[in-house]
Amino acid sequence: MITYRRMTRQDCEAIHQIELATFPEPWSLQSFIDEMERNACARYIVAEEAGQLLGYAGAWLILDEGHITNVAVTKERRGEGIGRGLMQALMQYAANMGVQYMTLEVRKSNLTAQKLYHSLGFIDLGVRKRYYEDNGEDALLLVCQNMPPIDPDFAETEE
Ligand SMILES: CC(C)(COP(=O)(O)OP(=O)(O)OC[C@H]1O[C@@H](n2cnc3c(N)ncnc32)[C@H](O)[C@@H]1OP(=O)(O)O)[C@@H](O)C(=O)NCCC(=O)NCCS
Repeated sequence: MITYRRMTRQDCEAIHQIELATFPEPWSLQSFIDEMERNACARYIVAEEAGQLLGYAGAWLILDEGHITNVAVTKERRGEGIGRGLMQALMQYAANMGVQYMTLEVRKSNLTAQKLYHSLGFIDLGVRKRYYEDNGEDALLLVCQNMPPIDPDFAETEE
């Protein structure tokens, strides 16, 4: 069974391996550790099955905005609904924390991710020209106001 839970400092090494295998400009391990230990705005969700981490999604929650920083699923397990599960868990968490809308950047060529985001209610807001340094590709800026209802039983615990 796949479960979705808050990411902790102990998850950082395994998550960083997925990051390295996924992105042309991967974040450093220290960046993930800083997200866990220093960035008070950061909230990350991981997908876990039998103790193995399969993916992650994170955001910076600033007042009523949640800005998604990264989403990735390990290559071998894509197309099974894990990316959608991560996004839904992150959006639920953000809604519970008072977020009213979420934003993200996505490569113009990344049609797979765009399809996922559009299916969750994200709409195209604009273009950030030559946003990605590795190949000068444009980013699309997406926004979603279609947040899930707040869970009345939610209480944030320290991770
Ligand atoms: C984008 C990503 C997170 C999606 O995760 P996933 O677990 O493979 O996606 P899911 O199985 O949950 O599929 C969710 C939706 O994504 C879209 N999708 C998934 N795989 C797709 C594919 N191969 N082609 C087109 N659309 C696809 C579909 O809309 C799908 O919904 P549907 O199954 O109802 O049609 C994953 O492909 C990934 O890690 N990609 C590399 C990193 C990345 O691009 N991150 C986003 C940066 S902005």
